[in-house]
Amino acid sequence: MKSTAAPLLEKMDSGMAQDVRACADHWKDKEGNLIMILHEIQHRLGFVPREASLLLAEETGVPVARIYEVLTFYHYFKLVAPGKNNITLCNGTACYLKGVDRILKELERRLGIQDGQTTEDRLFHIETVRCLGCCGMAPVMVVNGKTMGKSVPTDVAGLIEAIRSQEAEHE
Ligand code: FES
Repeated sequence: MKSTAAPLLEKMDSGMAQDVRACADHWKDKEGNLIMILHEIQHRLGFVPREASLLLAEETGVPVARIYEVLTFYHYFKLVAPGKNNITLCNGTACYLKGVDRILKELERRLGIQDGQTTEDRLFHIETVRCLGCCGMAPVMVVNGKTMGKSVPTDVAGLIEAIRSQEAEHE
């Protein structure tokens, strides 16, 4: 009898399925392996798609609900594909007091997405996090791993423009 996951698994990209099987196989005899498998899947795919969880459940016999318990418990795991360019805003007290919410609003307005979302073209992802530990530079924005301190809402337009033209050059 086919599982209820079968229709989704039939459409699954074969490379992705191969990756998931390889991760499951690599960790199969190790204790506490579920989290290690999920780490490796995210490392290979950039996130843990639903099909990967379903296939993993089939491969390992671990119930899907248990897999999702782990995935949703740890903030580290991503369930949707990340954007190509990630913009992180610090939402800690110092940054909040220095107006980080105005920068976030400007980003949301210009990109047409909300905190935690990725644009449809997958070019931009924005998210807020807790204190990044450099409060003296508040409000802090991290763009593709590069920290930008004392940011202001008027930085946003230029930032988006610069990323878009960089991407266009690489097309
Ligand atoms: S509150 Fe933003 S870096 Fe500390």
